[in-house]
Amino acid sequence: MNYRHAFHAGNHADVLKHLVLSRIFALLSRKEAPFAYLDSHAGVGLYDLAGDQASRTGEWLQGIARIWQAEALPTLLDDYLGVIRQLNPDGALRYYPGSPELARQLTREQDRLQLNEKHPEDGALLKDNMAGDRRVAVHRGEGWHVPRALMPTQEKRVVLLIDPPFEQADELSRCVTALKEALGRMRQTIGVIWYPIKDERQLKRFYQDLARSGAPKLLRAELFVHPADDASRLSGSGLAIVNPPWGLEDELRELLPWLAEQLAQSQASWRLDWLIEEA
Ligand SMILES: C[S@@+](CC[C@H](N)C(=O)[O-])C[C@H]1O[C@@H](n2cnc3c(N)ncnc32)[C@H](O)[C@@H]1O
Repeated sequence: MNYRHAFHAGNHADVLKHLVLSRIFALLSRKEAPFAYLDSHAGVGLYDLAGDQASRTGEWLQGIARIWQAEALPTLLDDYLGVIRQLNPDGALRYYPGSPELARQLTREQDRLQLNEKHPEDGALLKDNMAGDRRVAVHRGEGWHVPRALMPTQEKRVVLLIDPPFEQADELSRCVTALKEALGRMRQTIGVIWYPIKDERQLKRFYQDLARSGAPKLLRAELFVHPADDASRLSGSGLAIVNPPWGLEDELRELLPWLAEQLAQSQASWRLDWLIEEA
């Protein structure tokens, strides 16, 4: 396990993933009924952008730093940026929330968080960062076992984020397996898989597997910061969203072009379509 998310915290891919998560929490919060948030590969929860790891790559400068400085922000960013403002009350951008901290701040008293991180040091940091919130349970086991170990949840509504490091070649297919296990336990699971876009040809099989996953409906949202013509670099990233809450598609149609404009590194673009349409 070599991957440490601190090197990438706040980059364009984190902005896409965390903004979409914030919208899912907002849409689910329109109803009183509680929901559970499950994060199979949670990271440490909170990142210091001035720390050694984030400073070495500076990826956040092309990500959240651009959004932080942007003018005429769409109101759909309010919740996401509100969390970052709370972490940086003097206005200088230094701390960035990982998915656990975002979820902790954007969920309610009745909601519950089950976070899992396998890396020994990062798991310990996550536990420290989440300490004191009784709605949060931190697990330090195998992320791929999360659907089997923690589902079905006592809450009828559940959001499952599957966000592995993609260090190994089989991780795209493991994501689909984990998703199917989750749907087998709770067909209504709102499942979010994050994936990197490097070689589009490699993703073809993943898209086919997702389309055959048996999910009730599945939305694909992708943001490219470069054209997808160079398989050696990260051109962008995508989210496969199973059972997206009603309204999310329209919101993404507003947000993706705006994000592409803000986060372009050479030539940016976006894509939003259904891999499985509702029957
Ligand atoms: C992309 S990062 C997660 C980022 C986090 N979800 C966020 O958005 O802030 C992937 C994490 O998975 C952890 N990890 C790697 N292999 C794992 C495994 N088999 N089970 C659980 N966690 C794992 C890594 O240590 C790393 O922290």
